[in-house]
Amino acid sequence: MMDAEAAEALLREWTAGDSLRKHGFAVACCTESYGVREAARLGLDGEAADEMRALYRCAGLLHDFDYERHPTPEEHPFAGVHYLREHGWPEEMLHAILAHAGYSGVQPETHLDRALFACDELAGFLTACALVKPTKAIADVESKGAVKKMKDKGFARAVSREDMRHGAELLGLSLEEHVGNCLAAMQAQSAKLGL
Ligand SMILES: [Fe+2]
Repeated sequence: MMDAEAAEALLREWTAGDSLRKHGFAVACCTESYGVREAARLGLDGEAADEMRALYRCAGLLHDFDYERHPTPEEHPFAGVHYLREHGWPEEMLHAILAHAGYSGVQPETHLDRALFACDELAGFLTACALVKPTKAIADVESKGAVKKMKDKGFARAVSREDMRHGAELLGLSLEEHVGNCLAAMQAQSAKLGL
């Protein structure tokens, strides 16, 4: 069984910065929710469903865990993947981590690859949407409002709108559905996200 607690410990060990840690947690709760959906779609239950959920959560937790130590595109996420491979983490997770970096040469192929790619930018964007609320609470973000904010080019400029749209497409979802799914996932874990 994939160990989400070990993944969390690794994220904390390699990442001192609060916002990058929180980004890992935010992406993890979104990918985890897609792992739950995928397990249900495949008719998995019990341990098999738990396994899938943990795999998706770990991929989210660890996708940027090496970024603080290895921030250049020459090293991230390759250095982290090398470390994870040496420590026996599964290849399907490593493939997803490589594929989330558009420049890695690895394309998103599996559902996990596509979910990680799709959740990465969107989780960052939804966090930005929460932080401009007077309460700074993700509970106060509405998916309609978030979709609308995507059109505001001055808002959260670093977040690629194209990647968010492309991510929804990769999952075969409308942008609205994808935003709604990730928002619900983040709202459900708001305490953990500090949002
Ligand atoms: Fe990321």
